[in-house]
Amino acid sequence: MRITIPFTRIEDGCLETQAQPHYDGNKRIQPLAVMARFSLTTPLYYVNARPHIGSAYTTMAADAIARFARLRGDEVLLVTGTDEHGQKIQRTAQEQGLPPQTHCDRVAAEFQALWQKLNIQWHRFSRTTDPRHGVIVKEFFLRVWERGDIYLHQQQGWYCVACEEFKDERELLPGRYCPLHPTLLVEWRDEPNYFFRLSRYQAQLEQLYQTQPDFIQPETRRNEVMKFVAQGLTDFSISRLHLDWGFPVPVDPQHVIYVWFDALLGYITALLEPDEPPSLAAAVRTWWPVDLHLIGKDILRFHAVYWPAMLMSAGLPLPRRIFAHGFLTKDGQKMSKSLGNIVDPFALVETYGSDALRYYFLKEIELGKDGDFSEERFVQIVNADLANGLGNLLNRTLKLVHKYCGGRVPTATDSNENPLAAMGRELGEQVAQAYAALALHRACGLTLALVQRANQWIDEQAPWQLAKTGNQQALAGVLYALLEAVRLAAYLLSPVIPQTSTRIYQQLGYDVDFDRELPIGFAEHSRWGVLPTGQAVATPEPVFARLELPKLIKS
Ligand code: MSP
Repeated sequence: MRITIPFTRIEDGCLETQAQPHYDGNKRIQPLAVMARFSLTTPLYYVNARPHIGSAYTTMAADAIARFARLRGDEVLLVTGTDEHGQKIQRTAQEQGLPPQTHCDRVAAEFQALWQKLNIQWHRFSRTTDPRHGVIVKEFFLRVWERGDIYLHQQQGWYCVACEEFKDERELLPGRYCPLHPTLLVEWRDEPNYFFRLSRYQAQLEQLYQTQPDFIQPETRRNEVMKFVAQGLTDFSISRLHLDWGFPVPVDPQHVIYVWFDALLGYITALLEPDEPPSLAAAVRTWWPVDLHLIGKDILRFHAVYWPAMLMSAGLPLPRRIFAHGFLTKDGQKMSKSLGNIVDPFALVETYGSDALRYYFLKEIELGKDGDFSEERFVQIVNADLANGLGNLLNRTLKLVHKYCGGRVPTATDSNENPLAAMGRELGEQVAQAYAALALHRACGLTLALVQRANQWIDEQAPWQLAKTGNQQALAGVLYALLEAVRLAAYLLSPVIPQTSTRIYQQLGYDVDFDRELPIGFAEHSRWGVLPTGQAVATPEPVFARLELPKLIKS
């Protein structure tokens, strides 16, 4: 049974389902109302090194959020990409003996390869060395310049090339090491730079945080930013001398634009249609402001303070929400090259597959909190929840359906007495709220609770006994509820484990692929009681192969 929702573009650019509802057997798919738009970004990752598990983590979370929005019927745009300018990248390329652009092309291709392996469905991959981006950066710079918000001034201070940021002398470690890169010495800079008048936006920023309390999330991060801003904002330099790798300052080409001023604008360049001539007006026409910038907590200040002030200066609307997630550790320790405990996402996904990784990181770690990766725990959780929990529930139930019901979905009975139906009736709404709040761990946890209850319930109800005593109606009711529980769980988990959900849906007799753009309508399939009686189910096959014990992957 193929279920698709056809859609057409309407005048204002929104997507709308076709007026004709789509009928399928005894089930009616409701046409959706006018679709809303939902756009989100991951950070644009530095190409100084291969992608690491931290960048994979943000991108897996962003993809699950985007898939959920699509499942609900929104038109979605997911932006990811790479940040390719600045001293850090220039030095890395030099160390490799490569022209910077060649180096950037290689690493950007690695990011894309990893995103494919992780089953990320991105729409735009923004690269800051794209010449179209240069046009946008120039136009934006000139707007801010004309506004009187840029001036030349002598910059003196300690610079961390790895952070691409000036550091306060007070925050340095003894011997002048960067607190975030304790093996790297900061460098003294004394040169004229162009500055952005951040201080001018102090009051406007404070008002923004007050009037839009959900602008920065989670709450702890909002408090952190408000405390920082309350100390008083100082202007920051947005150009560098003696650097070639970047866009020239339009009013003084001896200077190069600071990498962060350039990179944040990559979010806007990404919104241009692929063949559209670049201009700010065109870039912000359809998708700006984005609904969500998903970032790590270390780059919050750039996104929640500098970026809104830059946009205010240029007279552009602000993004709707900035959500900062926590940091990942390995076996309780910070990951670092010197400790030799960097988790290589390529090795992990090649060994265990994308659904397993996505599930562990999104279910086990609350988005916004720090979290740990241990290979033992990873294998244990994924086996318990996906192989023994979800997979086994389907397998056991399908065998019984073949044995006692001729391989067809049996007739449901009155579900009032049925604990699975009671849970299932509430679940769609609860899970939708969790996804909307970006509580992906809760969305998974709530759904897993239904699976666990269903696995207990099989044993309590002992359908094989009901068959022996000839209680055909009760048997049918129990098997229906079990099948429906596994279907609902697969549907609600599909943003996180799309491949497993697809296999489950296919074994339940649907011709559905959750990796396609519009799988099946949320209003219908997030409800309890959707499986059509009489639908032929497939011969059971394992939907999720048990993972083997740790292989202790290190890069
Ligand atoms: N290029 C800038 C972002 C510019 S956005 C316009 C940058 N790049 S980065 O590659 O260094 O970091 C990208 C993201 O990876 C950040 O959100 C950062 O928080 C995240 N992570 C880096 N290490 C991480 C962990 N160990 N754990 C979780 N996320 C981590 O910053």
